[in-house]
Amino acid sequence: MAKRQECTERPWLDGGLPLEQRVESLLAQMTLAEKVGQTHQIHNLDPSADQDLIRSGGIGSSLGASGATAGNERDEGIAVAAINAAQAIAVQESRLGIPLLFGRDVIHGHRTVFPIPLGLAATWDERLVCRAARLAAAEASMDAITWTFAPMLDISEDPRWGRVAESLGESPVLAGRLGAAMVRGFQGDTRGEAGRLAACAKHFVGYGLVGGGRDYETVQVGENTLRNCHLRPFRAAVAAGCATVMAAFTDVDGVPMHAHRRLLREVLKDEWGFDGVVVADWNGVGQLVTQGVASDLRDAAAQAITAGVDIDMVSGAYSAHLSELVEAGQVPLDLVDDAARRVIRLKMRQGLFEHPYAATTSVPQNRPQSRALAREAAAASFVLLSNNGTLPLAANPGVVLLTGPFVHEGEALLGTWTLDGSGQDVASPADALAARLGGRTIIDDGRFSDRTMHLVRQADITLALVGEHPSRSGEANSVADINLPVGQLEVLRAMAALSKPLVVVVFTGRPLDLGEVLDLADAVLIAWHPGVEAGPALIETLFGDRSPGGRLPMTFPRSVGHLPSSSLARPTGRPIGDAQDLAVGRYLDALVAPRLPFGSGLTYTTFSYGPLRLSAREMSLHGGSIQVGVDVTNSGQRRGRALVQLYVRDVVADVTRPLLELADWVSLVLDAGAVGTATFTLTPGQLSYYDRSMTLRTDPGQALVTVGPDAASGTCAQITITS
Ligand code: NOJ
Repeated sequence: MAKRQECTERPWLDGGLPLEQRVESLLAQMTLAEKVGQTHQIHNLDPSADQDLIRSGGIGSSLGASGATAGNERDEGIAVAAINAAQAIAVQESRLGIPLLFGRDVIHGHRTVFPIPLGLAATWDERLVCRAARLAAAEASMDAITWTFAPMLDISEDPRWGRVAESLGESPVLAGRLGAAMVRGFQGDTRGEAGRLAACAKHFVGYGLVGGGRDYETVQVGENTLRNCHLRPFRAAVAAGCATVMAAFTDVDGVPMHAHRRLLREVLKDEWGFDGVVVADWNGVGQLVTQGVASDLRDAAAQAITAGVDIDMVSGAYSAHLSELVEAGQVPLDLVDDAARRVIRLKMRQGLFEHPYAATTSVPQNRPQSRALAREAAAASFVLLSNNGTLPLAANPGVVLLTGPFVHEGEALLGTWTLDGSGQDVASPADALAARLGGRTIIDDGRFSDRTMHLVRQADITLALVGEHPSRSGEANSVADINLPVGQLEVLRAMAALSKPLVVVVFTGRPLDLGEVLDLADAVLIAWHPGVEAGPALIETLFGDRSPGGRLPMTFPRSVGHLPSSSLARPTGRPIGDAQDLAVGRYLDALVAPRLPFGSGLTYTTFSYGPLRLSAREMSLHGGSIQVGVDVTNSGQRRGRALVQLYVRDVVADVTRPLLELADWVSLVLDAGAVGTATFTLTPGQLSYYDRSMTLRTDPGQALVTVGPDAASGTCAQITITS
């Protein structure tokens, strides 16, 4: 009876009512100050120090982060009791009892750390990525987290930019599909399920185009390129129901994204119908002053709320100025209503009004099932770049030397943005190798010194673990040189000069210039930063218990001087390879083609591709389709996975279109000698694009379809799209 009364007084608590009715009933009760409160986010909310703020309804959410570039730091971890205590004040002591959201960057796992996102992208496996996100959500929600700031969907073409490690690579289709899979994993099938997080597609939009690869730099890009490329993964995430979107730090052609009304309000919210929350990035509203488009915080608040930023992350601009701006008639109340409505809707969809508190059970540590998934993901992310038959290692390979700066590493193999992972949970490569081979190993001290060369002489084979420490990637960590860190190449040269088998494993958060390494080594494996199962996943892969499963989600360029170098190239008027070859876009002193193309990667067997089979040469613009099939033979000696990729090109379009654009892929696991068929259903939608007037269309006429193992090889056929 008492409950019924409460529902009558507080209809927003009545789960039987339609969601929008609940939202509006609550909004109707809120004062202007309480509405503004929902737009205000601070970090590390403290139930003691901030109790008056919470009680007054002056805050809507908290971000658990140590500071502005939290991904580079270790913090004190999450205090679940403090979060529950703050929530109790909000729910029980504030006038309307609106629960708080607790956000955190759960980027590639929580306690169980998976490979960095670029490594997860190298798996090309939506199911695996979804399962990893689901486990991360389950663990994080036990730590009282309700909202993660992931997936990051910035199309990443420039390896100098440290944040490529957090990205899903350079292809709008790959990033879009894997990003949508992450959203489904974090959020579950039904919003508000226990153990799920609200996801956040970030950073909207164009951040991957920062000038010179320098973090936070200005961005020059037109709306057509945004629509045909950079906006696409965001659209996929929104279509998958992503609850929130984060604005990018950067400007786009002079307009900072936190003040970009056209892209945030008109495109994302109005055109796409996104009814979730747009959150600022850290002090992104305040930075409008630093970016020189707002005179002060008050002006910044007015511009950001007008543009469509609903939650102000930590700048305090909304909390300090929005009420006064509304009262002065400088910001319409409707805009604040819209922002508060979205935050309330998010909280209701998350089920926070029904279940505001975290369970008091602590996150289970090192559960075998969780670690098994982390190991599977790590092995699936490894990309074999070259191999002259040295890998996989024989069961009794003689004396194995394990050397290089990562031999004894644990924490460094977790990668950037692992706020809640622990280095102590990581089995290092040294431990994993010793567990396998016992005394038949020489484990170096990790210093890569002259001593190392003596050890190489004693060993039958050397496994050199080189690459970048995660502190060299991630936010604010851009580099001007994409070679291996200083000194590593010199040691590899010296090792190779001894003419003994040399396997190089590269831990990295970005594509590197590996030209010489590929020449020196008998085999090269990219291992990214693989997470909590780094050591066992690596050793099992080197010995062939598992086959390297990954394919490059970003092009590996020849050098820094070759940037940009990606698979997204569009035709010029004087293409390279033109028969006349007079004034083409070439370098006088270097080849233009990338060192390693997008989509490439070997495994422990080989595949041969048969001719393309098309069910028809024509498809109608209106509902037509063509089945594209190719037989793939496992021509090697071992079972393995072929990743068959479909690329398309619109030959004559209204705007220049990519020479080759990934449209789909199929994974075939084949026994030695077996033949499998990859079948794609090609539809006109896969050739659609935004034209000069920003209208989505597909052209009748010629299109090219290419199927192959990567972006640089394959069999091509021409088809006709009929109107
Ligand atoms: C800044 C980063 O750009 C963003 O990705 C992150 O989610 C926020 N800080 C919160 O930590």
